[in-house]
Amino acid sequence: MPTKLDMAKFAKFCKDMGFIFQSSEIYGGINGFWDYGPLGVELKRNIKEAWWQDMVRNPPPGPDGQEIRMVGLDCSIIMNPNVWVASGHVGGFSDPMVDCLKCKKRFRADKVHFACAVVDNTPHAISVEADNATDAEPLLKEKIAKLDKKKHPVGRALKSAPQLEYHSATALPASWPRPCPAEDCDGTLTEPRAFNLMFESHAGPIASDENKVYLRPETAQGIFANYKNVLDSSRLKLPFGIAQVGKAFRNEINPRNFTFRSREFEQMEIEFFCHPNESRKWYEYWRDLRRQWYSRLGLKSENLVPREQGQEELAHYSVGTTDIEYMFPFSDEPQELEGVAHRGDFDLSAHSSRSGKDLKYFDEEGWNALLQVRLEAFKDDKAKREEEKKKLEKEEKAQFQFVPHVIEPSAGADRFTLAVLCEAYTEDTAPDAKGNPETRIVMKFHPRLAPIKAAIFPLVNKDGMDEEAKKLYRELKPFFNVVYDQSGAIGRRYRRQDEAGTPFCITVDGDTMKDGTVTIRDRDTLKQERIPKSEVRKVLEKALSPV
Ligand code: GAP
Repeated sequence: MPTKLDMAKFAKFCKDMGFIFQSSEIYGGINGFWDYGPLGVELKRNIKEAWWQDMVRNPPPGPDGQEIRMVGLDCSIIMNPNVWVASGHVGGFSDPMVDCLKCKKRFRADKVHFACAVVDNTPHAISVEADNATDAEPLLKEKIAKLDKKKHPVGRALKSAPQLEYHSATALPASWPRPCPAEDCDGTLTEPRAFNLMFESHAGPIASDENKVYLRPETAQGIFANYKNVLDSSRLKLPFGIAQVGKAFRNEINPRNFTFRSREFEQMEIEFFCHPNESRKWYEYWRDLRRQWYSRLGLKSENLVPREQGQEELAHYSVGTTDIEYMFPFSDEPQELEGVAHRGDFDLSAHSSRSGKDLKYFDEEGWNALLQVRLEAFKDDKAKREEEKKKLEKEEKAQFQFVPHVIEPSAGADRFTLAVLCEAYTEDTAPDAKGNPETRIVMKFHPRLAPIKAAIFPLVNKDGMDEEAKKLYRELKPFFNVVYDQSGAIGRRYRRQDEAGTPFCITVDGDTMKDGTVTIRDRDTLKQERIPKSEVRKVLEKALSPV
């Protein structure tokens, strides 16, 4: 488990370093929206580019050892509202929520947890907000400990007989009271009600129901709506995948845990279309591959927990889902990083029936192969051959036309960025300029994801070292995101780059001027090596290679 991080301190570090800022901060911010600063935007771009490179342009071979066919797509955020009716989002994309009748705050019902006790035949309760029951229990106990034990019935009950019952608001028996979890509020909550998470807007000048549109809550539906266009234009054969990276919007009731649950975020989604008989094989393939991808990019295996969802948790479209969960340091339980869902034929069938368009796949190769075998016997008798062909068309062709099944690995670019930031954050000791141990913060990013790949320093700004360092910087700049820094003591410059997570610092010193070598310092081991300056590009290319 990663060391627990003080999330407020961590968010401040992310702000101070230019990784993540609160959106519209100068106006007091806006809940659930975040901006990426100069380092953050590089980090997130590297994440999206690594995903695109490893999943779309160069995915590993499939379970049968064959190349995987994968193409990309970039769809609009606002689509015909029928898309969201067919997908089930208009009818069912909701969270259960409760409102406080007094302070008017709104909470997700599954995030409000109660401790209840019966005193003199009357039920009493207190509540807190927490991600899950494990996190809630200590918070409830803490809240009870602070209660006036003489006055508050729950406090009294605990004192005399600690028979508390714990429930979430979705599971609370109707007869129990529902106090508001907000600090300093003694209001009561409503019963849970469904609250649709889609943001609404209007296309056109009149804000009428007719013009109502939605900001997409997932990128997936753009892929399904374009499935036929892609199939026809790219002449793809099953199995194949369509990938998309883009913004999604959800009016989350309670955005929380820094960027973990935001109202605007980016998804990296693949819809992988295959024959129904092969869907299990592909489901397992994507589930395992996606987990490995996170480890390859630096998330420790022990922090990654694949969890098969129970039947009662499954989304309306899913016949099986594995959440790849990560031990985020703000929770005692692993939290979803990515969902790999077996969506069956739900989406294509739903869009087919609402749009009236046939979205079945025709396995032409299979059909032609069958014809060849079955008509072989009639090759010299044209009339018989035609007769047999008609019979086959009537009796057997249908089995070559089917709605493909879909496996969907759906990742959050912001969630992975947050996981990478949490995993990279390290406090250790390193020698200062005089060789004394000094505490440093170092962001141990995988070199492929690091916002800056190398920093180039002159040891001192004289004897031509600055010119030589600048020259090296200019040579590397077209190929890598590198920086040049000549200000301050060399130790301070190293510290700045450690905090930015730059894997290499390259220093031009007196020897460079004599023999053309530079020192290259490794961020994690702190080892410094002398290499010819002509080798620097090769060293960086090797460290950044995806294989
Ligand atoms: N197309 C399927 C789908 O959207 P999901 O589990 O709702 O499934 C997929 O979302 C991924 O999108 C999640 O695993 C998470 O990484 C990311 N995600 C979902 N809601 C999010 C939110 N409110 N803030 C940040 N990321 C979110």
